[in-house]
Amino acid sequence: MTYAMGEYYERVSDYDLEYQSQSEQDVPFWKELVVRYTPQRVLELACGSGRIGLELLRGLGDFALEGLDIAPEMLAVYQRKLEREPEALQRRVTLHEGDMCDYELPNKGTFDLIFLSFNSVSHLYELEQQLSTFKTTYDHLTLGGRFVIDTFLPDIDYLSNALNRPSYVYLEDEIESPANDFTMLLYTSRKYDQIEQVQHTVWIHEKFFLTGEHERYLTNLDMHVFFPRELQLLFLATDFSIEAIYGSYDWKPFGKGTRQIVVGRKR
Ligand SMILES: C[S@@+](CC[C@H](N)C(=O)[O-])C[C@H]1O[C@@H](n2cnc3c(N)ncnc32)[C@H](O)[C@@H]1O
Repeated sequence: MTYAMGEYYERVSDYDLEYQSQSEQDVPFWKELVVRYTPQRVLELACGSGRIGLELLRGLGDFALEGLDIAPEMLAVYQRKLEREPEALQRRVTLHEGDMCDYELPNKGTFDLIFLSFNSVSHLYELEQQLSTFKTTYDHLTLGGRFVIDTFLPDIDYLSNALNRPSYVYLEDEIESPANDFTMLLYTSRKYDQIEQVQHTVWIHEKFFLTGEHERYLTNLDMHVFFPRELQLLFLATDFSIEAIYGSYDWKPFGKGTRQIVVGRKR
């Protein structure tokens, strides 16, 4: 089976605009996490355009940070953002273009924190890809190092509405551009395949410019839907112990929120 993803991450400025509000929710969580764990060497898998990484570097701690992503467009924007930062901060960062299912970094075995944020684990569609990512990540950690995954908790009502047919069209957001020259409306329609556990989403981006011009484009984004025991089993099947599971970005226990944030530990 082939899965759709690429296109969605090629329009990076729209991606950054779209997920500004997500940063208000998850960035404080990741900043607090590095304060609690005091890592020396950190790797962010599927780091994207540096939405989280840059904020971590500006926060507390003096760790070295590496980022890995499959999309060159995302990494190019991350790199451009880094170039606007002080040199001391730039020196702490190394970016790699690669697939999280199969990577081999020079610092293999020395990372004390590896994380996979904001539903990016959902881009691991096949069991082989999932197992391979977990095993490779295990090998990149030092003994006692942590692998932290943040993803959404499946919403059964939402999925059943989209079972094997396109769901309603949802208006996801209405966003003003930073220069106030356009308004962007975002709509989605989803179809859920319960055999593959894949949610196929059609995203519609519609921009209304002050000049009266109008632009609309469609992208497809497929996401594997992880049920909680399944995600936990992946940690256990690859020799991690599970240290904690949180249910939200404000550290609520698992089950008290809409997230599953699993902390695995290399033993
Ligand atoms: C939802 S975005 C998250 C980006 C960033 N972590 C953030 O929170 O803004 C998902 C990212 O996963 C990347 N990605 C998807 N599949 C990947 C893979 N197999 N290996 C590495 N990166 C991947 C995409 O290119 C994209 O940048």
